[in-house]
Amino acid sequence: HGTMEINASGHLEIGGVDTVELANVYRTPLFVYDVALIKERMNAFKDAFEKKQVAYQVAYASKAFSTVGMYQLAHSAGLSIDVVSGGELFTALKAGVPASTIHFHGNNKSIDELKMALDEQIGCIVVDNFYELKTIQALAEQRGQTVPVLLRLTPNVEAHTHEYITTGQEDSKFGFDLASGQATKAIGISLEDEHIHLLGVHSHIGSQIFETDGFVLAIEKVFENLARWKQTFNYEPAVLNFGGGFGIRYVDGDTPLHPSVYVEKIVDETIKHTTLLEMDMPEIWIEPGRSIVGDAGTTLYTIGSQKDIPNVRRYLSVDGGMGDNLRPALYEAKYEGMLANRANDKPEDTFSVAGKCCESGDMLIWDLPLPDVTANDILAISCTGAYGYSMANNYNRIPRPAIVFVEDGEAQLVVKRETYEDLVKLDLPYQQKAVAPF
Ligand code: LLP
Repeated sequence: HGTMEINASGHLEIGGVDTVELANVYRTPLFVYDVALIKERMNAFKDAFEKKQVAYQVAYASKAFSTVGMYQLAHSAGLSIDVVSGGELFTALKAGVPASTIHFHGNNKSIDELKMALDEQIGCIVVDNFYELKTIQALAEQRGQTVPVLLRLTPNVEAHTHEYITTGQEDSKFGFDLASGQATKAIGISLEDEHIHLLGVHSHIGSQIFETDGFVLAIEKVFENLARWKQTFNYEPAVLNFGGGFGIRYVDGDTPLHPSVYVEKIVDETIKHTTLLEMDMPEIWIEPGRSIVGDAGTTLYTIGSQKDIPNVRRYLSVDGGMGDNLRPALYEAKYEGMLANRANDKPEDTFSVAGKCCESGDMLIWDLPLPDVTANDILAISCTGAYGYSMANNYNRIPRPAIVFVEDGEAQLVVKRETYEDLVKLDLPYQQKAVAPF
């Protein structure tokens, strides 16, 4: 997919750049992002809306991959940005993204985070709960500011995906519950407060979703309530945000739909319901993360030690692991991989790819078909672009990898490799207390 090829030297090439050279120059583990593919995905979402001729915003859910360079790429493609913390907000601002195009999510934004958002006059705050609503009301009043908000609803739709990444079901930490009337109460409070500018409502049903049924159901739920709110409050939203969650293909058997299929369905359903209710057509917002960056990222590792257990399994170890890709350990996520330096060689056996952390669970791929590998071969694991670097950690004090963007035969470093000095830069010495002499 994208601009992945095998070149004349039998090396994996991404964006016209030889990955073996990348590994030599920047060392491993290394994240390589195919910029052309990221642009293709961003445009696919936008084009689908353009075709439908409706007002829209595509917000990049930056939790999937948050760095200065990525914010600049998303912003320059005309996307708005969804952030979920002061840290993401800071990084987006640092990247030069105008605050007016940023949306702020999260179920426990701190007072400082909210103040930062208000200081910057952020595009909108997606309000998650009553505590937050109250806090924003108070801050906005103190400052004489009007705050644009979306209210996050819990649509009570279960997306068919991993339990830890579904978010739309009733028993969820996120959002205002619809069934119990919490959402209605929140709408009432927001409409009455002159410091709150209620742009509309938000729903998100989960992640890595391969069908449109969940979105159709969520939209139905939202409109059931909008119908009531129209009667009770004479309220019509200017914006409906249906979240993200569009799936990607990690391995055979994953069957994502094209971005346009999700968008068309969401738009069609919204048109259908607004027509039925004789409402003005709202702006439609979505927040894809994974589907923008997931398959554009590839991680390069150098193979080190191997262990063969006769008649049981062949292990090979790489120079990274759960520090740069927590998803296999956390969600039993599956990936595919290949030898980047011998991309034409036929598989001869299966090898299980172990990370280097001191933990049995640090396995990246089980039983991967590969040619007979040796130390110093370069293993490329594909589709690591989402929730890889963004969930990276320093377990075992392993420095985080570097990141390069590749495009049109050129590579540029967008995140430096962490150094050992970086690892200790926040540490302070232990102050030995004076021991009383006996
Ligand atoms: N909007 C909201 C409100 C979300 O909670 C999320 C993801 C998104 C948008 C973006 O979803 P996406 O398009 O990326 O699926 N760490 C997990 C995924 C957690 C997703 C959390 N929320 C993983 O590695 O699979």
